[in-house]
Amino acid sequence: MKKLVVAALAGVMVLSLTACGNSAKKETEAATTEAATEAATTEAAEAETTEAAETEEMTEVAAVETAAEEEKTAEGGTLVMATNAEFPPYEYHEGDDIVGIDAEVAALIASELGMELQIEDMAFDSVLAAVQSGKADIAMAGITVTEDRKQVVSFSDSYVSASQLIIVAEDSEIAGPDDLVGKKIGVQLGTTGDIYVEDVEDASVERFSKGFEAVQALMQGKVDAVVIDGEPAKVFVNENEEIKLLDQPFTEEEYAIAVAKENEELLGKINDALAVLKENGEFDAVVNKYIGDGEQTAETEAVETEAAEETEAASEAASEAAEEETTEAA
Ligand code: ARG
Repeated sequence: MKKLVVAALAGVMVLSLTACGNSAKKETEAATTEAATEAATTEAAEAETTEAAETEEMTEVAAVETAAEEEKTAEGGTLVMATNAEFPPYEYHEGDDIVGIDAEVAALIASELGMELQIEDMAFDSVLAAVQSGKADIAMAGITVTEDRKQVVSFSDSYVSASQLIIVAEDSEIAGPDDLVGKKIGVQLGTTGDIYVEDVEDASVERFSKGFEAVQALMQGKVDAVVIDGEPAKVFVNENEEIKLLDQPFTEEEYAIAVAKENEELLGKINDALAVLKENGEFDAVVNKYIGDGEQTAETEAVETEAAEETEAASEAASEAAEEETTEAA
């Protein structure tokens, strides 16, 4: 499965190199060569050829159809996506490639639109600005829809529900959002975690450019808790034994794709493409590959069970303590 994806990406990248050779970066070129070589040495080579051929065909047809519209996109037939690839399982680095749910869904959307996807990796707090300035056509980075953000960009239909969760040390006394009062909280700069933690009474906020850096600070005892999106939280907790995830979410939110305010036409096309991908099951297939019944299932489930057990143990301890108190009072 993984090989196939690499192959598919390689196919797409080769095409985008031919489509806009001058703007292609050396980095991309290297990645393409490597990915292509890898694919060529495996049985996936065949899949690559088919995929590439299919994409090429679609591109040609689309080129005729959308010739008039072409100047509307940043670089002809290229759909430029701004992201921050520090956010597994939505977008992260795997070797020289950027993979994840957003990366793959964006590639599917681009192919629905007969375009080539080009991913630009940047700081999370720059992704909306990139769309506003036209440096990117879309921003897709597990971006939560908020009223403030709606003032500066347009959002597509939401494609996933998410939540901010709290990560603490295994032996932490923090058991839920209320216990964050007065604590030192680590967040990724510019995220909704950062924004909402501001409202926690007497808390001090430590901002990191990457979510994982906040988690590292937690493991070093430099912060008391990290507030971060649920899925990356699970990935980070899964990788590190000395931290745990609290059950009670800090907020509930929705992710959507951001497009420049004036780009209503692209917004409509993206919503249409999303609807098609949800309808034909391709969207779910990508999500399931990274979350749920994909290869991470066993791990994710283990984390979830562990978290559930911990909460159970915690509430047991709490009721025990309460009982003791009652007995004492009596
Ligand atoms: N959902 C949060 C937000 O919109 C965090 C997203 C962070 N994404 C990333 N690729 N680093 O603020």
